[in-house]
Amino acid sequence: MTVDKHVDAPELEVDSVSVAYGDLVAVWDASLELRAGSITALVGRNGAGKTTLISGVCGLLPLRSGSVRLLGEDVTEVPPWGRVPRGMSAVQEGKRVFRDLTVRENLLLGLRGNRVKRAQFDSALAELYDRFPILGERRDQRAADLSGGQQQMLAIGTALASRPKVLLVDEPSSGLAPVFVDVVFECLERLRDEGMAILLVEQLVEEVLGGIADEVIVLERGRVTLRDAAANLSVDDVARGIYSS
Ligand SMILES: Nc1ncnc2c1ncn2[C@@H]1O[C@H](COP(=O)(O)OP(=O)(O)OP(=O)(O)O)[C@@H](O)[C@H]1O
Ligand SMILES: [Mg+2]
Repeated sequence: MTVDKHVDAPELEVDSVSVAYGDLVAVWDASLELRAGSITALVGRNGAGKTTLISGVCGLLPLRSGSVRLLGEDVTEVPPWGRVPRGMSAVQEGKRVFRDLTVRENLLLGLRGNRVKRAQFDSALAELYDRFPILGERRDQRAADLSGGQQQMLAIGTALASRPKVLLVDEPSSGLAPVFVDVVFECLERLRDEGMAILLVEQLVEEVLGGIADEVIVLERGRVTLRDAAANLSVDDVARGIYSS
């Protein structure tokens, strides 16, 4: 394992990554870089390979080829649970929370899973409730009784328990009412402004170009077909990338 950290190096460098399910290669030679204080949106049709790419980057799926560097360190061979304490956290598709546990219990599991010391639980919870006041108000309610937007906040809050530098978020707006989409996006923008490097899988192209994304990557049939600063792109450009194959 080599460590070669430069001050202005990207927080995450994904180089020519391919990911396969058996013989089916779902992502081909994908490369991306995430910088501190930026949001990169990963867009593409259903089945394009967005979730597969994120799963490969965070180590849940093995890479067929390519490499992943996190904060300058090659973590390609590091298992997912070893990437979390090194600064990478992921919010998986579909609001993954423990529905029968309370909000507080879900967050405590996040803290334990991220090896936060017991003596720091109270201050860590207070910090999370400060960020998401609604979770503080509902701390003793079952996660199943939260709205979809609140469950998504709980999933993000759990991922933040490890104080990641790099956050991968898979379609947090999926199935949410527009008002909750705004709340989730505002939360991600705040994290970006605090210096986090964020990869956001998102299907809402207009919202992506309307402000939240600094860079946009289009994935189509497992291949990156477009990668540019959001400011350089129109909705039509992105649509052409999405429907190019
Ligand atoms: N567990 C699996 N086993 C085999 N093939 C899979 C598996 N998961 C996904 N695939 C296939 O890999 C390809 C990419 O799927 P993936 O879920 O990464 O797409 P996606 O861009 O995240 O789509 P969506 O927008 O619907 O979430 C698809 O062809 C899909 O059928
Ligand atoms: Mg997906």
